[in-house]
Amino acid sequence: MTMTNYEIIQKLAKKHNAEKEEFIRLLTSADEADFELLGRLARKLTLKIYGNKIFIRGLIEISSYCKNDCLYCGIRRSNKNAVRYRLDKEQILQCCNKGYKLGFRTFVMQGGEDKFFTDDYLCDVIKEIKKRYPDCAVTLSLGERGEESFKRLYAAGADRYLLRHETADNEHYKKLHPQSMSLANRKKCLFDLKKIGYQTGAGFMVGSPYQTAQTLCEDLLFLKELNPQMCGIGPFIPHHDTPFADKSKGSTRLTLMLLSIVRLLLPNVLLPATTALATAQANGHKEGVLHGANVIMPNLSPLEHRKDYSLYDNKISTGDEAAESVEHLKKSMKSVGYEVVTDRGDYKS
Ligand code: 5AD
Repeated sequence: MTMTNYEIIQKLAKKHNAEKEEFIRLLTSADEADFELLGRLARKLTLKIYGNKIFIRGLIEISSYCKNDCLYCGIRRSNKNAVRYRLDKEQILQCCNKGYKLGFRTFVMQGGEDKFFTDDYLCDVIKEIKKRYPDCAVTLSLGERGEESFKRLYAAGADRYLLRHETADNEHYKKLHPQSMSLANRKKCLFDLKKIGYQTGAGFMVGSPYQTAQTLCEDLLFLKELNPQMCGIGPFIPHHDTPFADKSKGSTRLTLMLLSIVRLLLPNVLLPATTALATAQANGHKEGVLHGANVIMPNLSPLEHRKDYSLYDNKISTGDEAAESVEHLKKSMKSVGYEVVTDRGDYKS
């Protein structure tokens, strides 16, 4: 007997799992009432586990150089129009100093895959951050590296690592990435990171070219298998200087629905209301939180470089997205019943 969407949602909320066919049904046929119910149950579960607290992370975009050529990304190697910059140790520390005063207790160093950032260089920066701010967590988001490298960075003090899997379907992965990259290696990195002890983040774009309900279902099944501590989900937004310039952007409604589904699937997951969501939809942060998100990652990069970390068109770095505006973010979260906290905001297991 096939289950109704209502029954699938109740099962997800109780058992934190569903069958492949059930996910696909939900993804292809959820109506307004289903969407609402998913959002309501996801928010309720978040409140039960993390309370009404919103964790903030200061995002420091340390390099717009990248050796990869992902077809969706504005800082891909073959984009000759991209402005390239990288921050040095001193500039990164200045960002942390500013962020600490603003109340940030997690610093995320994100960048393209840039050979400049060797293990030695990064270990030195990580150690210095941990020495100056022992009460802060350091998160890295620097793409694929070898297991030994991940181990060294962890030993130097890194606490978390974000590496979106992008899609868990092999054929789809090949359509989004150059031949030099593979889903198998991406997955290996993620399992290595978890094994080493990092709080690990996976994730994917919603509405990326060639994505289907089937590939999204693979994403959900993979997430359940990996059981990451974090999961980044945002709509695909085309960048004009990429092969996907003319592809259409992902749906924000489907993004919100997937946030809710992932919350129900992985109850304790730290789930950001992403910059891409806030770029695609006014009130994106609030909507994300109302659908089960509990993390926001404001931009803490040096102001003069923000426009150059251009992963997709019109990527916002002002308003509630800017670390400088954290007071405003606090007010907007308060208006929907949530409290932005000064806290490392670790995973609750
Ligand atoms: N639209 C939305 N998200 C994108 N990312 C890269 N390019 C785009 C785009 N065009 C996301 C990827 C990557 C993260 C840092 O940004 O999922 O993992």
